[in-house]
Amino acid sequence: MAEQLIISGGNQLYGEVSISGAKNAVLKLMAATILANDVTKIYNVPELTDVSIMVSVLEELGAKTSYDKTEKSVVIDTRNLTGIIASYEFVSRMRASFIVLGALVGRCKEAIVALPGGCAIGERRVDFHIRGLESLGASIKIENGYVHAHCEKLQGADIYLDIPSVGATENLMLAAVLAEGSTRIQNAAQEPEIVDLANFLNVMGADISGAGTSEIIINGVKPESLHGIEYTTIPDRIEAGTYMAAFIATQGKGIVRNVNPSHLTFYTSKLTQMGATIKLIEPNAFEVSCNQRLKALNIVTQPYPGFPTDLQSLAMALLSVAEGVSIITESLYENRFMQVPELRKMGADIHQERNHALIKGVDKLSGANLKASDLRAGAALVLAALMADGFSTIDQLHHIDRGYELLVPKLRAIGADIKRINNESDVLVNKLRGNLNGTTKI
Ligand code: EPU
Repeated sequence: MAEQLIISGGNQLYGEVSISGAKNAVLKLMAATILANDVTKIYNVPELTDVSIMVSVLEELGAKTSYDKTEKSVVIDTRNLTGIIASYEFVSRMRASFIVLGALVGRCKEAIVALPGGCAIGERRVDFHIRGLESLGASIKIENGYVHAHCEKLQGADIYLDIPSVGATENLMLAAVLAEGSTRIQNAAQEPEIVDLANFLNVMGADISGAGTSEIIINGVKPESLHGIEYTTIPDRIEAGTYMAAFIATQGKGIVRNVNPSHLTFYTSKLTQMGATIKLIEPNAFEVSCNQRLKALNIVTQPYPGFPTDLQSLAMALLSVAEGVSIITESLYENRFMQVPELRKMGADIHQERNHALIKGVDKLSGANLKASDLRAGAALVLAALMADGFSTIDQLHHIDRGYELLVPKLRAIGADIKRINNESDVLVNKLRGNLNGTTKI
């Protein structure tokens, strides 16, 4: 059934938000449980569509899982894996499923995993994953849309990544845990999610050093060295960045709790340059406020610790009403400006040329009928609608559901005028009202 968000913009947001566990960390921890022939419990697991897809992938392999909604934990028992195939049905719905490849080859010496293909934000190749696995000794065939990898054994190797790819670093780290000898990944990604995965694997019995730097060393261990663990994943830095932007966008003031401030250094410095005030009031809590019009600035997205591509669309929404002209350069993905046409509908003045966007700040955005085209573009539209004059509707919520746990309740609790409807006729009525830009409160 079609679902829609209805947002009446203009409310200043006040209060506190608690950040959930990091989607992009937890999915990889879940895949890593394949390596140990045991039972593992992960805490701080957000209730998201992507998490349930990873549960399905693991169950397809024969793992037993149970998710506790109250405790936000998942128990994964990989003692009786029966399969080595991650099917297209799941990988096509969530590219991150491809991460099971490294873990399966590591544990079972064979894996058949569907190729994810491109997606809305870009081509998103997996050639580094495949070349890296070949360097570790796996033979790889690509047939009928699947990667078929197998080996007698994996042997540690030196691997250099052309780009510090997050997924390739993770896949290769997983494969190398049970390889013979030492593996060195150079030009490795340094994202906090990589560090979380390395910490998780080390607690499980692996021997990994250097995670968080550009060179990661994985000394292979014997299968019997790995065991089930209990582990709490890191907070979601992108969700945190989203709520920080929401307080700033509406010239409100609020506290964002359960954050790791060091994961957001670049982002917070940019928000401060825009004119926001950000104070670290506790080791894991920011107080965020803004009582002036934001100032324009230039942003280039980069691998961590640079400005995160996942927060680029939110920065664009903020800059669309800032004073002056900003330039955003997206350097990771070919097509990550999907929010631009939608922001233009709201009155934003944005000119896009390839991976550059020139944003001339306007005084105000106005509500409109909008469509989320991917997760982060969708989040930017929510932000834009919160600060716009009048009434907006947002369709294609399945994209937003992939990455934001309890979005509507969290926003309502800090004063946003937002609701989610799932009735076809209401959706139509609201499209019409949105077209007229009604200002009715909801
Ligand atoms: N790339 C290649 N070949 C490869 C691997 C990557 O050319 O073999 C290219 C990609 O096409 C892309 C660039 O390298 O242009 C970076 O891709 P990377 O592999 O680092 O990204 P990813 O692992 O596919 C993760 C996050 C993304 C996030 C990026 C960058 C997960 C599940 N996804 O993707 O998150 O944008 O790192 O930080 O961890 C999201 O949450 O909305 C999201 C897209």
